[in-house]
Order: sequence, then structure tokens, then C-alpha cells
Amino acid sequence: KADKRSTLLEINKLAANYFYYQLHQSQGKIGYDYFRKRELSDDTIRRFGLGFANKTSNDLYQYLRSKGYADEILRDSGLVTMEERGTYDKFWNRVMFPIMDVNNRVIGFGGRVMGDGTPKYLNSPETLIFDKSRNLYGLNYARTSREKYMLACEGYMDVIAMHQAGFTNAVASLGTAFTTQHAVLLKRYTDTVILTYDSDGAGVKAALRAIPILKEVGISTRVLNLKPYKDPDEFIKNMGADAFRERIANAQNSFLFEIDVLKREYDLEDPEQKTKFYNATARKLLEFNEALERDNYTRAVAQAQFIPYEDLRRLVNRLGNQL
Ligand code: UTP
Ligand code: MN
Ligand code: MN
Ligand code: MN
Ligand code: MN
Repeated sequence: KADKRSTLLEINKLAANYFYYQLHQSQGKIGYDYFRKRELSDDTIRRFGLGFANKTSNDLYQYLRSKGYADEILRDSGLVTMEERGTYDKFWNRVMFPIMDVNNRVIGFGGRVMGDGTPKYLNSPETLIFDKSRNLYGLNYARTSREKYMLACEGYMDVIAMHQAGFTNAVASLGTAFTTQHAVLLKRYTDTVILTYDSDGAGVKAALRAIPILKEVGISTRVLNLKPYKDPDEFIKNMGADAFRERIANAQNSFLFEIDVLKREYDLEDPEQKTKFYNATARKLLEFNEALERDNYTRAVAQAQFIPYEDLRRLVNRLGNQL
């Protein structure tokens, strides 16, 4: 089994080199142009080993066969699919993002369509060497960053755009939700995470799920506001690195972010709804078991939401006594 793992690593490495080579051939120019259109430099393309899977249906398969690998191991690599009609490359006509583990070994790929096709991103399936819930894209570089915090985002392009802009402490959980294993992995390198998830509904939802997971392992979390842009890549492209650094400095305490999101469920013009919001806020403050910590947050929430502190404190205590 150890043998099989190392063979799969070899195959992924060969594939990464193959895609990288294709990107710089005439067939791959369309992929190279795509990356340039997205404002990635040659340095960035090299650093992240970005590549191109061309339109031919099984040239990677042929290449890997020519290197002596058997069908079975190629199937298990997830890079080819075997059907009755024949064997095909999983990735074709896509720009390619190799996924590396913390030791810089290629363990899988993401591939993006260059236009509006679906799926937008195709990812390697989980294999013997690729466990999506235990790997974070960009961590191989982020782990050596000197910053005390890490930036966690949703996507390949977000990680790459942040790194290119000098934020080399950015990572992403890819095509999967943020897991406890991801949090445990991050905890080895940092105590603070700034979430830079997309500003759309899906991104907010993903942030709300990640916050308690990070808290559970003792990581303190802040949430960066990307508005009016959709994700870090777009923010940086439009506003630049300095504006992004400012957003990092102003990232919001995750609890106050949760209260802000909670607030959106209520129509605060309506006294009944407004009362419900205050009650829900007070109940949430009861998550803090430590009196001082609870009081600190009660003060912060009161200030942020324009609720008289004494009134909020009394409500929290009353609801607490009912438990
Ligand atoms: P997004 O849809 O936000 O894409 O998905 P993006 O990262 O902003 O990509 P660009 O800028 O349009 O190129 C966020 C992440 O979710 C995963 C990918 O990891 C993607 O980066 N995803 C998304 C998939 O795995 N498959 C998909 O079809 C879409
Ligand atoms: Mn898994
Ligand atoms: Mn999205
Ligand atoms: Mn994007
Ligand atoms: Mn996005």
C-alpha cells in the first residue's frame, strides 16, 4: 500500500508536469491567455504549477501508459475514466490547478472551463493520496508565511490572487465544506483565521458553518468584508493590495458577524420582530459560559446593534435564569 501511494504520487507529478508543458505549447495558448486575462503573472503561473489539459480525449492516458503505468493504477489515480467505449482523460479542455500537500507533493487537480460551461470546476476524486477533508489548497506556501494569522477562502483563484498580491498566508478548502480536520491542520500553524469567503449567500453560509468548527479547536476567527466585491480575487483586482490589507485590519469578530447575519432574519421596523431579534441575540450571548467574556460580548453587541447595554444585560441574565 505504501508502494501504491508513492506510485500515485509519481503519476500525479507526471501529470502536473504534462499539463504545465501543454500550457506552453501552441495548443495550450488558449489556457495561457485565459490565465493572463485573469491577471496572473508568469511567476504566479510557475509558482502554482498551473497548466492546461487539451482537447484530445486521452493524450494524458497515452502519455502515462508510455511511462509504463498499468490501467488499474491509472484508474485509481482518478486521472482517467474507463468506459466500455474506451479510456478517457478525466480533464480535457480545461485550465489546470495542481493541488499540493504540505510537502509540495501533487495529490490531485482542479480544472476550470475557460468559458461558462459546467461544471465550472472539475476536481480529482478522492484517492488513496487525496483526502479533500484533510488538505488545504495553498497551505504548502502559507505554512511558511510569517504572519500570525491565516486567510481562509473558497477557491483556487482566490488563493492565487491573494498570494500574488503578497498575502502568502491564504488557503482554501476545495470543492468541499470546511471540516474539523481542516481546522486541526490549521491549528498546527496558527491561532487566528480570517475568513475571506465569497460575499454571496453561499459564502455567508459557509462562513457560519466554519466559525464553530474553528472555535472548537481553539482558533479565533474574524470575518473580512469584501463588499461590494464577490470574492478576494475580484476585490484585489479592483481595489488592490493596500485596500485588501485595510480590510484585513478591519475584519470583524466572528461573533459580531454572526449577530449581523442573525439580524437579517428580522424586520426591525416591526416591534414584535425587533423583540425577537433581541431575544435571539441574548440567547446567543448565553453561549459564553464565562461571566467576564459574556459581559465583554454583551457590551460589544450592545454597542454594535445600538441596544442599551443595561437592558441587554438584564435580558441575557433573565433568559439565563430560565435555563
Ligand atoms: P466559485 O463558484 O466561487 O468559483 O467556487 P471561484 O473560485 O470564484 O472561481 P472563478 O473566479 O469563477 O474562476 C468556489 C470554489 O468552489 C469549488 C472550487 O474549488 C472553487 O474555487 N467549486 C466551484 C467546485 O469544486 N466546482 C464547481 O463547479 C464550482
Ligand atoms: Mn474525506
Ligand atoms: Mn461562490
Ligand atoms: Mn472568483
Ligand atoms: Mn468565488
